[in-house]
Amino acid sequence: MRILKLVFVIFFCATAAAPFISSKLAANAKKEIVPLPAQDPSQFVGNSSCAECHAEQVARLAPTAHHKAKADKASASAQSCESCHGGAKVHLEFHLTAQKLIKEGKDAEAEALQNDETKAKNASMIAFDKLTATQINASCMQCHSQMKEHAVWRGNKHEKAKLSCLDCHSMHHSPAAPTADSKLFATAQAEGKLLKRRTEADTCFQCHGDVRKAQFQRSTHLFRNENREHQLSCSSCHEAHGSIGEKLMRTGSINETCYQCHTEKRGPFLYEHSPVRESCANCHKSHGSNNTALLNARAPMLCQQCHIQGRHQTVAGYSNSAFTMNRSCSTCHAAVHGSNHPSGINLQR
Ligand code: HEC
Ligand code: HEC
Ligand code: HEC
Ligand code: HEC
Ligand code: HEC
Ligand code: HEC
Ligand code: HEC
Ligand code: HEC
Ligand code: HEC
Ligand code: HEC
Repeated sequence: MRILKLVFVIFFCATAAAPFISSKLAANAKKEIVPLPAQDPSQFVGNSSCAECHAEQVARLAPTAHHKAKADKASASAQSCESCHGGAKVHLEFHLTAQKLIKEGKDAEAEALQNDETKAKNASMIAFDKLTATQINASCMQCHSQMKEHAVWRGNKHEKAKLSCLDCHSMHHSPAAPTADSKLFATAQAEGKLLKRRTEADTCFQCHGDVRKAQFQRSTHLFRNENREHQLSCSSCHEAHGSIGEKLMRTGSINETCYQCHTEKRGPFLYEHSPVRESCANCHKSHGSNNTALLNARAPMLCQQCHIQGRHQTVAGYSNSAFTMNRSCSTCHAAVHGSNHPSGINLQR
């Protein structure tokens, strides 16, 4: 009984904490669990017959990686409709018969066939909008579990929050296409990956709308070119499929991720500034900030969060005081990330 109560409390907390996300996720949770049918190759008919009735889906799959993937004769391969939707033998027979009856003018018979619930049910294919998140993920994982991104999918925050691959990806409707800048920027390349929205950031903003404002702040990492394409985007720092680090970082830690591009901040330094070693997030807002250089707060307030006493006055005085003027503390303590100068012990050079 106690455990049951605990489960309820945890469930309540989880749903109450993120109301804006939960409405989206509730739709995933409500679906009835139907077991995924096992793949039976004897039920496969191949792709050639589908276009007759599903021209749109066939056309939309054609430019994607799934269609272009190498055909594997031994089993259903990525380019086969049936490897995702299940064997179509019965489906095809059912709908071709119905079609034939209608053509022959036997409308009543056709209607009777279509109204035969058991037959119609047997003839139905795997429809992804009727599956739970767990089932969708299992379906994609048939092929994707070996890829490096997905070794860490299990147990990550997104999986635990019951997201499915289809919250971010779309197989037939993806509007995202690679741009001319694709070769230049790793993130722009990501924007061709069958994402559900036109850009990667828009895909994430579906749920993380609060990050959107960073694009418009005085100092931002989410800066864009004249075509409003992100030059640096979410996957420059985050791995949406899960990571070994905190906050879904691409690498093991926040700092390691920043060093990928800001290598000079890695050091080694003769005189280190310990908060820098601990985490760049001690002083920087990584998405965007209304202060210069993505700072959490302006100096001297930034420094005063930790330094309130020392060899000299660390509390800002009058407006013309050296401690407030110009770049404030960093006018003198310019090497705030660490110093290699023999007399840089006070991070001044
Ligand atoms: C003769 C026409 C016809 C052909 C050929 C056909 N389908 Fe269908 N398919 C339909 C109809 C009609 C529906 C809608 C059924 C409904 O809404 O209940 C459908 C629905 C589907 C669905 C949605 C899930 C469902 O069962 O409602 C999938 C997936 C699907 N078809 C895949 C395929 C594939 C793959 C092929 C080729 C192997 C194929 N179909 C060939 C007529 C056809
Ligand atoms: C890699 C897996 C995959 C392959 C291959 C695939 N589909 Fe789909 N299909 C999906 C998913 C996922 C959806 C749900 C909508 C979406 O993500 O675009 C879907 C939706 C559909 C639907 C339902 C209508 C809709 O738009 O929701 C039909 C019909 C369909 N697919 C037919 C086909 C046909 C025909 C082929 C082969 C040309 C095919 N699919 C190949 C995964 C796949
Ligand atoms: C039958 C095997 C198979 C299934 C099932 C499958 N995929 Fe794939 N997928 C592939 C192959 C093969 C590739 C191409 C890999 C390559 O080119 O390196 C691919 C590529 C992709 C890509 C990269 C697209 C790009 O443009 O680079 C995405 C995203 C993807 N799949 C998502 C999914 C999702 C989501 C599902 C479940 C709805 C799914 N796949 C189901 C085999 C599969
Ligand atoms: C929270 C959003 C999100 C979810 C959920 C998600 N993906 Fe992705 N996926 C992305 C983004 C963004 C990219 C492009 C950036 C990258 O490669 O990391 C991507 C890229 C991919 C690629 C291409 C990788 C490459 O290097 O070419 C594959 C394959 C893929 N996803 C499969 C899946 C599968 C399978 C699932 C479900 C288990 C899934 N994704 C769930 C956001 C997501
Ligand atoms: C320059 C690297 C970088 C980029 C680019 C970036 N992030 Fe982050 N993000 C971080 C860091 C670092 C944290 C952890 C911040 C902290 O702990 O103070 C974080 C935290 C988050 C969090 C968790 C917030 C929380 O309070 O726990 C979300 C959600 C998030 N980012 C979404 C996004 C989205 C969406 C994008 C793309 C529009 C994005 N991020 C782009 C570095 C980045
Ligand atoms: C369908 C909704 C949805 C989408 C789309 C989505 N997320 Fe999330 N994200 C969540 C939820 C739910 C959580 C967990 C929140 C929590 O536990 O506090 C989360 C958590 C996170 C976190 C924090 C992880 C941590 O350890 O605290 C980051 C970072 C993040 N998401 C980045 C992204 C990025 C990048 C994308 C786009 C590629 C993305 N998300 C797309 C729903 C989503
Ligand atoms: C994918 C590469 C990349 C990663 C990863 C990255 N940055 Fe940056 N960062 C940049 C680029 C590009 C600029 C802009 C440089 C310019 O305008 O000269 C920048 C600018 C900055 C600035 C200066 C902003 C300004 O307005 O002057 C700070 C501070 C910063 N990054 C901190 C971080 C932190 C902290 C992290 C880790 C959470 C991080 N960066 C991760 C590429 C990256
Ligand atoms: C103790 C606070 C603090 C920490 C921690 C910190 N920074 Fe900074 N950072 C600053 C200040 C202050 C500035 C602005 C310096 C100025 O006014 O010239 C700055 C500026 C920057 C800039 C832009 C100017 C330049 O020097 O290139 C980058 C990039 C940067 N920081 C990256 C990082 C990275 C990466 C980390 C983590 C390894 C980090 N910072 C940790 C305080 C900090
Ligand atoms: C998150 C807390 C924190 C912030 C913010 C911070 N510092 Fe520090 N700082 C420290 C710690 C801890 C030390 C190491 C003190 C020690 O070793 O006794 C240190 C050391 C120093 C030293 C060297 C003094 C010594 O005794 O080695 C200087 C100079 C300094 N900080 C200046 C600054 C300036 C300027 C800023 C603002 C740009 C700043 N700090 C922001 C925590 C912080
Ligand atoms: C006009 C130049 C100047 C400005 C502005 C300045 N400092 Fe200093 N700071 C120094 C000098 C010089 C020393 C070394 C004093 C010594 O060794 O006797 C020092 C030493 C320090 C130390 C080490 C003290 C100790 O006890 O070892 C800290 C911490 C520090 N400053 C923080 C700050 C902070 C925070 C600000 C902004 C409010 C600031 N400083 C502004 C010149 C300055």
